[in-house]
Amino acid sequence: MKGSEPIPITLGPARRAGDRPGTDRRLIDAFGRVATDLRVSLTDRCNLRCTYCMPAEGLAWLPRREILTDDEINRLVRIAVERLGIREVRFTGGEPLLRPGLERIIAATAALRPRPDISVTTNGIGLARRAQALADSGLQRINVSLDTLRADRFRSLARRDRIGDVLDGLRSARRAGLRPVKVNAVLMRGVNDDEAVDLLRYCVDNGFELRFIEQMPLGAGWAWRRENMVAAEEILVRLSAEFTLTPTREPRAGAPAERWLVDGGPATVGVIASVTRPFCSACDRTRLTADGQIRSCLFSASETDLRGLLRTGAVDEQIADRWRLAMWGKAAGHGVDTSGFAQPSRSMSTIGG
Ligand code: 5AD
Ligand code: SF4
Repeated sequence: MKGSEPIPITLGPARRAGDRPGTDRRLIDAFGRVATDLRVSLTDRCNLRCTYCMPAEGLAWLPRREILTDDEINRLVRIAVERLGIREVRFTGGEPLLRPGLERIIAATAALRPRPDISVTTNGIGLARRAQALADSGLQRINVSLDTLRADRFRSLARRDRIGDVLDGLRSARRAGLRPVKVNAVLMRGVNDDEAVDLLRYCVDNGFELRFIEQMPLGAGWAWRRENMVAAEEILVRLSAEFTLTPTREPRAGAPAERWLVDGGPATVGVIASVTRPFCSACDRTRLTADGQIRSCLFSASETDLRGLLRTGAVDEQIADRWRLAMWGKAAGHGVDTSGFAQPSRSMSTIGG
């Protein structure tokens, strides 16, 4: 089938597990979920070494020839939007700002129709220099990771003395008109769990939207311990000591953050309880790794190779079909909080957040 004509997206009949994908051209799975949110990891490399993600020496980086080129990424994103019904594209890493072509990739994504919602998740290093260019190329909003406001803690947590760069980056993002500017924070027991209130105050004062993310078992070294995870409930108790939190009662479908108005609003705080209140049944995500593998879930045990197809001359519809098949097999849930759970062999930095 020829390249550029989008296939109309129609809703197929209700399915039972075991059926094969039929007339529905979207990324449906055997449980009836539809993936409309694509996360693209642009590189597995990072300029920080957060202890919960990477060892001090870094990981064995993917060889350059295995990393998708800008053109290959643009093609896959186009196929996802035009043929598979993707409505939201998030660029992640590793650290996506390490990719020199990021602005061009965003511009190519913004030119697609229907234009997807575009966002980037970054650690903020180098953002001060690029926020305006990112906004100019079509980026609408941004998520910046920040787990602590204390320089000494940042240095030991991220193993780099760069908190100033991150805070500058946040200010530049706001100045460039990116909205919302979200801050992602992971709290860890005995490390930064006393900073929930300070982080929220800082974000409220600066117009940033804070979201706490429960730590998931994805880091290097398999060091995750259930008892060290600061659960959503506990975060809310800590925040409620200083702030009045009112649930926003938004429908939760596809939006894993549960949000609260802070002191009557308009500021809000979100908590992503990936472990204690998994949102797997409403999951609408599909993931592309920097080396061209589709993962139907962060915690997938297997991947589907699209890079090989790309590099052996497959046409768009063959690639789309392989992608559909990969998503059809998506598991019902990750089961992190259950006894039989096995941590995936890849770290978050190579899968994309
Ligand atoms: N659990 C939860 N969040 C994580 N992140 C990285 N590793 C983990 C983990 N194991 C977060 C980063 C960043 C985003 C990409 O994911 O802090 O905000
Ligand atoms: Fe880099 Fe993000 Fe991993 Fe920290 S958590 S080392 S910023 S990829």
